[in-house]
Order: sequence, then structure tokens, then C-alpha cells
Amino acid sequence: MDIGIDKIGFYVPKDYIDIVELAKARNVDPDKFTIGIGQDKQAVPQPYQDAVTMAASSADSILTSEDKKDIGLLIVGTESSVDESKSSAAFLMDLLELPEDIRAFEIKQACYGATAGLQSAYDFVSLNPDKKALVIATDIARYGIKTPGEVTQGAGSVAMIISKDPRVLKLDHKSVYMTRNVGDFWRPTFSKTAFARGKFSNQVYVDFFQTLWQKFQNKYSMTADDFSTMLFHIPYTKMGTKALRTLEETVSDTKYAELTKHYQESIKFSREVGNLYTGSLYLGLLSYLVYGAQPNEQLLLFSYGSGAVGELYSAKVQPDFEQVVDKSALQKMLTNRQKLSISNYEKMYQIEYQDGTIVDPITVDTKFYLSEIKENERLYKKSK
Ligand code: CAA
Repeated sequence: MDIGIDKIGFYVPKDYIDIVELAKARNVDPDKFTIGIGQDKQAVPQPYQDAVTMAASSADSILTSEDKKDIGLLIVGTESSVDESKSSAAFLMDLLELPEDIRAFEIKQACYGATAGLQSAYDFVSLNPDKKALVIATDIARYGIKTPGEVTQGAGSVAMIISKDPRVLKLDHKSVYMTRNVGDFWRPTFSKTAFARGKFSNQVYVDFFQTLWQKFQNKYSMTADDFSTMLFHIPYTKMGTKALRTLEETVSDTKYAELTKHYQESIKFSREVGNLYTGSLYLGLLSYLVYGAQPNEQLLLFSYGSGAVGELYSAKVQPDFEQVVDKSALQKMLTNRQKLSISNYEKMYQIEYQDGTIVDPITVDTKFYLSEIKENERLYKKSK
């Protein structure tokens, strides 16, 4: 039975900052941010948006009432959770008007969460072929103002429906993975911002990619010639470039040129959005589906979550994917955003809602929003 991604949706906040303006405000040469880090814009969420509201928005963009009846599993992969106990998935039951007979929970393992969700969804559909799974990656990447990580922030969500006979991507059930206890990135429960050993994280990421690529080739007797495209976890686009470059000496010039061209197509969205943490790999997939993918093309996907877990798996673009992926709607979502000045971004960054907050719906311009915090419980609403 073929199982994989049947639909894929994306949500990005409506505001962004320009990376050249950020560089100037921080007295940094803009080339460092646009070339050295590889970013152009960074999505900035409103204070009444969080991992839950963005997850609701990305899922809402693909779910039909027919899908809702068939979904038996809902997994939210996030490292920006709003509660240490209740999962984001539970909040989504109301916002998305889902029926009760669903197993819903949240997964956390840094940026690996959505891949863990996707693979669990594969197993679920294998055992329950008439059911579908909804897997959502949703995150706000925050390092803090004037920190080295500031240029690698971002926000957004990617939602995927996993089913049999998928129309977007068939998972090949060829996968290798590994876990090591590594201190490259962490966010203690008291902190809203992440701590990262950024350069060390780069080294671990590249090491995981090389180790897994070797394992994959050994396990399946395959080489780079079996793939026309490799997609990488891209919290900032330079990071994936570093993994890709390790192949330069091991594959033919023609293959390397092909992989590089396709990599450039896969990072177009990330350059405009920034870091999605768990969603970063899947934003790369979406970008590639919009700008480069061909029917029946074989892809290799590298997922990495600091801490650290890595997984390398293969998948096949489905013949009719273009009928399911609304390319122009995705492009419009990015072009229809509004630019924030750096000073307004800094002001917005400081806003932190406390217990007792009631958000005035008139100020809200998103479909799903945090409406109130009452007795420290977060309450959400869908705009009429
Ligand atoms: N023109 C062009 N390039 C320039 C330049 C200029 N004027 N000035 C510098 N550069 C280049 C540098 O040569 C360097 O390139 P290489 O990496 O190829 O050597 C690049 O710009 C960055 O320069 P620095 O290393 O000096 O930059 P920095 O000290 O400011 O740190 C960073 C950059 C390490 C990425 C930092 O922004 C950071 O720590 N960000 C957070 C990183 C992070 O979160 N890592 C974890 C990622 S894994 C993940 O996604 C986490 C998860 O699971 C949640």
C-alpha cells in the first residue's frame, strides 16, 4: 500500500522584517546576513499568535469536512509549546472543529518533531488504511534581540495530511536515523528564547548528515545517482548549504550541479520566512514543490533536531502533485505580507501577555487568535 503526504498546507504571519534593515540596525555588513547566513526576510508573529493559532491556520488551509471525518490521529510537532501539560493538539480540536474519536497529542524533539510525527503517522495509516493522520509542524523561533541568533529567527506552520494513495509525496519506507545526547541547542522551561552553540550545532548537523548518508547508502545499496534532489533541514539556508557541500567531492560535477540547482529551489521560501524549527524541512519541501519538483521524482530528505536526532529518508513526488499544491496561493501568501520597521519589530517583541489579558477582536487580523488568558489558562477564538 502506498502511504504518504496527501495534502500539505502552510501558514506564515502577515508581518516580516527585512534582513538588510536588520543588519544595518545591528551595524553588521548586510552581506553577512544575506550571503553568510543566507536570509532575506524574517516572519514576525503578532502577540496574539502562537504555536496553536499558527497550527490551526496551516491545517485550516487544507482540511475539508470529508478529511475531518477520516482523521484518526493528530500530532503537533513543536518546541514552542504554550503549556507544559496540555498539548497544542487538544486546543486544535475546537479551533478546527474535529470529531472526538481522534488520538491527539504533541511531540517535542527540537526540529525533529514533525518528522517523528510523520513517521508515526505512516505507521498509523499502515495499520488503519481507511484513516488519515494530520501532522502539524508549528513554531516561533526566538533567540532574542541583538543576539547572534536573532538573524536566524522566524515563525510559521506546515500541516500535512497523511493517507494511503497520497497525491503529493509517497514515503518509500526507506529510512535511517540516529540519536546522540548533544548540547548544541536548548530552551529551559523558564526561557522564552533559545540557547544555542550555533557553530557547534553546525558541526553536529553536518556530522549527522554524513553519518546517515553513509548508513543509507550501505543499507539500501543506493548512491547519489538514485536521487535528483536532496532536501535539508534549513533553520537558515546557509546551514543546509554546508551539508550539501560535503557531497561535492564524492559525486560527479553534473550530479552536484543538479543537486545544487534543486537545493536553491528548495530554499526560496525559507529565505523569505526564516526559521520554522520543526517545519523548516517541510517548508523546503513546499518550496521545491512550487519551484522545481517533477512528477515521479525521487527525493532524499534530511531531518535534524538539536539535542540531537537525525533521520534521512526517501520519498517520491506523485504524478498529480500539481493538482493538490496551490502554487500561486502559496506565493501570494508571501508576497501579500507587510514589512515592519525594525523599531516596531523590537516593540512588538517585548509584548508579553499576562494573566487577565483580553485581546480586543477588532485589533486582530488573523483567523485564529489568542483571545484571553484567564486563571493562567490560554483561551483561543476563531474570527467570525
Ligand atoms: N559577507 C559575506 N559573508 C560573511 C560576511 C560578509 N561580510 N561576514 C561573515 N560572513 C559569513 C562567515 O564567513 C560565516 O560563513 P561560514 O559559516 O560559511 O563560515 C557566516 O557569515 C556567519 O558568520 P559567523 O559565523 O561569524 O556569524 P555569527 O558568529 O554571527 O554566528 C550563527 C552565526 C552561528 C549562525 C548564529 O547566528 C547562531 O548561533 N544562530 C543560531 C543557530 C542555531 O540555532 N543553530 C541550531 C540550528 S539546528 C536547529 O534548527 C535547532 C533545532 O533543532 C531547534
